[in-house]
Amino acid sequence: MFAVYAEKLSTDDPLSGLVVGERPDPDVPDGWTTVTVKAAALNHHDLWSLRGVGLREEQLPMILGCDAAGTDEDGNDVLIHAVISDPSWRGDETEDPRRSLLSERHQGTFADKVAVPRSNLVSLPSSLSFEEAACLPTAWLTAYRMLFVQGGLKPGQSVLVQGAGGGVATALITLARAGGLQVFATSRDEAKRTRALEIGAHATYATGERLPERVDAVMETVGAATWSHSINSLKPGGVVVISGATSGDAPGKAELTKIFFRQLRVVGSTMGTRGELDRLAQFVSQRGIAPVVDRQMPLADARKGFARMVDGEVFGKVVFTV
Ligand SMILES: NC(=O)c1ccc[n+]([C@@H]2O[C@H](COP(=O)([O-])OP(=O)(O)OC[C@H]3O[C@@H](n4cnc5c(N)ncnc54)[C@H](OP(=O)(O)O)[C@@H]3O)[C@@H](O)[C@H]2O)c1
Repeated sequence: MFAVYAEKLSTDDPLSGLVVGERPDPDVPDGWTTVTVKAAALNHHDLWSLRGVGLREEQLPMILGCDAAGTDEDGNDVLIHAVISDPSWRGDETEDPRRSLLSERHQGTFADKVAVPRSNLVSLPSSLSFEEAACLPTAWLTAYRMLFVQGGLKPGQSVLVQGAGGGVATALITLARAGGLQVFATSRDEAKRTRALEIGAHATYATGERLPERVDAVMETVGAATWSHSINSLKPGGVVVISGATSGDAPGKAELTKIFFRQLRVVGSTMGTRGELDRLAQFVSQRGIAPVVDRQMPLADARKGFARMVDGEVFGKVVFTV
């Protein structure tokens, strides 16, 4: 079948290991099923994989892609939950120490077909296109959990989203606004700040710029480059929820004194549960929210989409159609 996969790993030149070609149809273990992929979305995770973060040489070749929407073996339209937990695990899948994401241990979604556990299928609301739905399983689910589960945010509170242009960040801005929050965002790029206002931010600032008032919560995916600003932007008792560190995970200053003196909370967040993905799909559908799609392109052009992400040009999600 047609597939986009990692053939080798390179920290400095991740696209050198990317292949657009042919791979065998997926194996389907007991309890698993096959989904015919209609659309699949690119995540920073796919770039990390090509850089060798979370993927080892001996696992190659590996079809990339965590996210997809398509049709199951009975012809139903479905979304795929990308978190694969151990069959014996009960409870929150994101807390299973043996969990993995599609494309880490099992072949990913950038292909004609992908095999997944039956329990990882979520019904696709009829109001969402395959392309919109493909944005939900990783970036949008991560944003949903950061805001409403790990962040525990309520309507009327205020939130700062760092690095407005990212897939998770655009989801954070849209969902926070729809959830009744006061939304601030930062970006290094003026055009992205303008776009952030269009999708729901109340005000935007250059990366590192002082906010006019402190916020209840900060949503972090940028990491080292914005960490001090995130801590400085919080009200006493505020919370920073972190799910990524694109610019590195060793900030110049850990800000420990400010964290204890102002009684700040630092909360980690990773992906979300199948139940949360189901609720996110319903929320997006009921509110008529369309995920921000930066570019839609055939899977055969995947290299162009990856290059946009490497160059930091993306605003929203890159979606591949199959
Ligand atoms: N824990 C999880 O479950 C989970 C799930 C999804 C993603 N993640 C992680 O979250 C991060 C974001 O993922 P994504 O898919 O949204 O990636 P993305 O679409 O590539 O977004 C990255 C954004 O970060 C900002 N940024 C990058 N370098 C920066 C720098 N040096 N200074 C300031 N801002 C910078 C940029 O914002 P501007 O250009 O607007 O400044 C960029 O748009 C990744 O590290 C990813 O691995 C984790």
